[in-house]
Amino acid sequence: MNKLYGDVVLVVGASSGMGKAIAEALASEDYKVYGTSRKAEMPKEQDEIAAAQSGGFLKMLQLDVCSQESIERAVNFIKEKEGGIDILVNCPGFALAGSVEDTSFEEAFMEFNTNFFGIHRVCRSVLPVMREKSKGLIINISSTAGLIPVPFQSFYSASKFALEAMTEGMRSEVKPFGINVAMVEPGDTKTGFTNSRVFVKDSKDSAYKNVFDSSIERMIKDEQSGPPPVGVVKTVMRMINSSNPPVRVVVGPINKVLAFLKRVLPSRLVVYIVSKLYA
Ligand SMILES: NC(=O)c1ccc[n+]([C@@H]2O[C@H](COP(=O)([O-])OP(=O)(O)OC[C@H]3O[C@@H](n4cnc5c(N)ncnc54)[C@H](OP(=O)(O)O)[C@@H]3O)[C@@H](O)[C@H]2O)c1
Repeated sequence: MNKLYGDVVLVVGASSGMGKAIAEALASEDYKVYGTSRKAEMPKEQDEIAAAQSGGFLKMLQLDVCSQESIERAVNFIKEKEGGIDILVNCPGFALAGSVEDTSFEEAFMEFNTNFFGIHRVCRSVLPVMREKSKGLIINISSTAGLIPVPFQSFYSASKFALEAMTEGMRSEVKPFGINVAMVEPGDTKTGFTNSRVFVKDSKDSAYKNVFDSSIERMIKDEQSGPPPVGVVKTVMRMINSSNPPVRVVVGPINKVLAFLKRVLPSRLVVYIVSKLYA
């Protein structure tokens, strides 16, 4: 099948959940996929031969979005091997659980450093490579929490709101260079997300403890009873096959309804509904 943007893909955060499913799906469609993990090791020559011979091309590189050096090393590696990067899918992210009052600056920064500044760092490294070829596609994995903030995940929601704003602004900036930018907004999905949730230090003896505990319990239950990332993979595939992908696509029937309600209802009512969901 003709590859609209080219066949070299970088999937950041491909060791688990959505990123892993996206990377595997693309490799099975004959894309040359470079996935990343903080825990991966940079490949050696013999690994490359093995990857090239094993059918679907999926190679893991070491990358931490909080380390500029690791991003540059991975991007340069792909540029040297493939001559460029055609598609970038940014998946890294984790949830920070805690009330706004209980969250320290350092904890809030840690959340933004991965979910927002991390993706900014990756985009800054990849955009010059895409501009060289005057084409490319960037897909950022946001969240429905980037449209409708969730209590006790206010900083997670804020990091996704920031990501939404940056992505939307960047879309207009890079369009003249032939580069498309889009976002996916998944709802609760069964991945490694639940286990990687970080709880703020002060949540243990918090004045919010009772409602915090029941809210987080509800979130965990919803995530773990959510679907696997099939809908996210399908959405990414559609974007990759579109010369003009939408700015954002909400994934999941309930989330589509919530996104619609957010547009049409007064904010007071939306906040009330969300607070009832997580009370
Ligand atoms: N699951 C949900 O219910 C849900 C709902 C809406 C949105 N999302 C969003 O979907 C995206 C994917 O999450 P997921 O659900 O697939 O969770 P996941 O299974 O925990 O996967 C997260 C991925 O991000 C990578 N990662 C984390 N911190 C990183 C860092 N500092 N540098 C580089 N990579 C990092 C992890 O790789 P390593 O740990 O190997 O480095 C892993 O591959 C996230 O942005 C999340 O906010 C999830």
